Amino acid sequence: MTSPQTVTLLGATGSIGQTATALLLQHRARFQVAAVVGSKNAQRLAQHAIELNAKVAVVADEAAYTELKDCLSGTGIKAGAGEAAVLQAASIPADIIVSAIVGAAGLKPTLKALEQGTRVALANKESLVCAGNLLLETARKHGTEILPVDSEHNAIFQIFTEPQRAALEYITLTASGGPFREYTLEALHTVTPEQATNHPIWAMGQKISVDSATLMNKGLEVIEACYLFALHEDKVHVLVHPQSVIHGLAHYADGSVLAQLGMPDMTIPLSYALGYPERLANTAKRLDLSAVGQLNFRQVDDGLFPCLSLARQAYRTGGIAPIVLNAANEIAVQAFLDKKIAFLSIAKIIAVTLETIPPCGVYSVEDVFQADAAARRVATEKLKQE
Ligand SMILES: NC(=O)c1ccc[n+]([C@@H]2O[C@H](COP(=O)([O-])OP(=O)(O)OC[C@H]3O[C@@H](n4cnc5c(N)ncnc54)[C@H](OP(=O)(O)O)[C@@H]3O)[C@@H](O)[C@H]2O)c1
Repeated sequence: MTSPQTVTLLGATGSIGQTATALLLQHRARFQVAAVVGSKNAQRLAQHAIELNAKVAVVADEAAYTELKDCLSGTGIKAGAGEAAVLQAASIPADIIVSAIVGAAGLKPTLKALEQGTRVALANKESLVCAGNLLLETARKHGTEILPVDSEHNAIFQIFTEPQRAALEYITLTASGGPFREYTLEALHTVTPEQATNHPIWAMGQKISVDSATLMNKGLEVIEACYLFALHEDKVHVLVHPQSVIHGLAHYADGSVLAQLGMPDMTIPLSYALGYPERLANTAKRLDLSAVGQLNFRQVDDGLFPCLSLARQAYRTGGIAPIVLNAANEIAVQAFLDKKIAFLSIAKIIAVTLETIPPCGVYSVEDVFQADAAARRVATEKLKQE
């Protein structure tokens, strides 16, 4: 038997983190866990650390340190807290790191892992949106790679290989359409955070659930796909597919269309990313097409869901624009979850922040964080006008 692979889990307490934990537990002999990282939920993090027999557990929020230390007392697992400890955990030599922190907060630790030559199983799409070139260059420089966990990108990764590039006409990412896919503009005026986070298909964290409801999630994914597969933005199509059974399609010059299908369960793409190039067995429900019966597809209604177009526009503008888009979205989504703004104001805040901040180039990681901070300031200011 080959020796176990070492894995670190960033965002271990979240939706992806919990799915990854279950998978790692199922494959105990294959993986050993170096570190688990979360933010505030010390109890859950400690529980995962103990179950996974991790060496280190770190909370980003220093206020959660005492609780984490108490929960880990007598286990021999080292507790840490704060941003420096998170970066240290990401730097521990490992074969794979699962990058599943939510938002731009995932960027620095993901970059740290790549700098160590660690393969990244990437769920944290926001880091690619903010610093796609930087992450890809770092991976190249340190002889490692980024494997997509996002189900659509994982699908494309499974059906598109480099030798086929010349014959690739375009790819399609599917979108469930979110909880409001059948809503009118009038109905969207009054939707609540509870409705927005009640996704019809996927059980996910709060931020991505709202992103899914506005279709910003698909916008971020278009940008993510451009980086991951070195494609021009107009080669990344989106189709609403309410059943979420087909996750991605590759359209080739001979008229062939390859698709990856599976139940909407993140266990499946996580299995592929963790096991690559092998396939890991898992307990995800198996797809029964006769039970699904119908697969439907339609175009996105840009009038109702402008966030997808805003993301495309930001990517085309380039430079800091995707960073500004992402930061303004994070601020607006949190304000919506806190019931400070209406659902339809999310897109407005993003659009006005993009209009306010003049575009400029990104030449270093510092430029990324400066643009992120500036956009957060502007977006927070714009919230007051809503
Ligand atoms: N959920 C899905 O099905 C899905 C699918 C595709 C892609 N993704 C992507 O995966 C990422 C995670 O999504 P999720 O749904 O799992 O989110 P989630 O359930 O909200 O979990 C977020 C995780 O990030 C941690 N975290 C938050 N801020 C942090 C910080 N500053 N430093 C360190 N850790 C921090 C949280 O810790 P605490 O719990 O302690 O606060 C938690 O472990 C997102 O980028 C999302 O877009 C998710």
